[in-house]
Amino acid sequence: MNIGFIGLGKLGLDCAEVFAEKFTVRGYDIYPRESDSVKVCTPEETINESDWIFIAVPTPHEAGYDGSVPSSHMTPKDFGHDAVLDAIATVNKYATSPKKVVLISTVLPGTTRKKFITTLDSKHQFLYNPYLIAMGSVKWDMVNPEMVMIGTEDGNWNGLAKELVDIYNQIMQNNPRYIVGTWDECEAVKIFYNTFISAKVGLVNMIQDFAMKIGNINVDVVTDALAQSTMRIMGPKYMTAGMGDAGACHPRDNIALRWLAEEYNIGYDLFDTIMHAREVQAKNLADYLVEIAKDKRLPIVIHGKAYKPDVPYCIGSYSTLIGHYIKEHNVSLHYVDPLADDRVSVVEDVNVPAVILMAHNRAVTYGYTGENKEDVFYFEIKPGSVIVDPWRKLGDVPGCEVIHYGNTRQTS
Ligand SMILES: NC(=O)c1ccc[n+]([C@@H]2O[C@H](COP(=O)([O-])OP(=O)(O)OC[C@H]3O[C@@H](n4cnc5c(N)ncnc54)[C@H](O)[C@@H]3O)[C@@H](O)[C@H]2O)c1
Repeated sequence: MNIGFIGLGKLGLDCAEVFAEKFTVRGYDIYPRESDSVKVCTPEETINESDWIFIAVPTPHEAGYDGSVPSSHMTPKDFGHDAVLDAIATVNKYATSPKKVVLISTVLPGTTRKKFITTLDSKHQFLYNPYLIAMGSVKWDMVNPEMVMIGTEDGNWNGLAKELVDIYNQIMQNNPRYIVGTWDECEAVKIFYNTFISAKVGLVNMIQDFAMKIGNINVDVVTDALAQSTMRIMGPKYMTAGMGDAGACHPRDNIALRWLAEEYNIGYDLFDTIMHAREVQAKNLADYLVEIAKDKRLPIVIHGKAYKPDVPYCIGSYSTLIGHYIKEHNVSLHYVDPLADDRVSVVEDVNVPAVILMAHNRAVTYGYTGENKEDVFYFEIKPGSVIVDPWRKLGDVPGCEVIHYGNTRQTS
């Protein structure tokens, strides 16, 4: 097995040396590099003597966009892709046979499909395989990763993804999780993994700011208590995208916290950001329903008005928030919910085809209790309906189109 590396920098050189413990590894860099185990050579030799070509070149941010100086006021900018495009051009130029090209550099979701695949000669195959690696522990991180992400064109375990897993299995020390998705999904997993960390650090440091302003608070008492909250906070609960946060407590708590941020002059308002995002997410879903309703000339029905199934409470309901945005359009809107304590626009039955939002999902809401709560339709859905399921759990419904909101894969 011959492996080639284009880019022998902070990430590429150490990774190439890890591979070199098992395989023959050649590498090329535009700057002179040295290694005891990797043969540093020309691009031509690196490419033609290797079956697999790993690209580990920089995807730089523009000056001032690394976070070491204030940047939140600056125009958002994508990473630079010149080096990756240059590496791809190098493969195109020198490869005399089909190659298995693996990009490990970090790029934003959608980049591979839009920018790289269109450039790579079609005789080559391409995987996106970003690493979760930190400076100072590159070699250890590489063989003890939290997961290995392998992006393919259609997201399925095709031959090439399996082949790469076989290679990694020969060097890994921790029997890692392998995640195979589309190129775009793996780009998203990698970048949002980092965002989750940034958000977490941003939240605990916000509590630190409140501790400093309010007094009589040791931030560690608060964050330790939250850190041990494995039932809802430190675990997979709330990791299923769907309807927004709702109910008698959460929305109003965040809305009130906006006041506290102002009262103590914290200087920023994360609660407003969270609540604003929640509202725009509701509007996005409302607009999506309205577009289908107008296109198909169907009324809209929200299946579930209470903020969650099996309770009557409509306080803080995300269904009514979506309804608010739907009402800005000239379409018919009703709710069906046998328990809802707010009966405005609630009907018992719908006798015509409709665009139906499956707002309630008992399994998602109550799964953590261990109880097996099957979902039930609150009314008999008429053929010709379009059912939008934001939880992506609903199977086929005879005579109806079922749309899994949030899944835009060509093939599932
Ligand atoms: N460093 C990390 O901890 C880390 C972790 C995960 C992901 N990444 C990602 O990996 C990528 C590389 O990061 P890095 O830290 O190794 O960067 P780096 O700048 O240290 O190394 C990149 C190397 O590529 C070489 N290079 C640049 N253009 C080239 C070209 N056209 N042909 C051949 N070689 C070329 C450079 O000379 C350099 O040696 C980035 O996308 C980065 O975001 C880095």
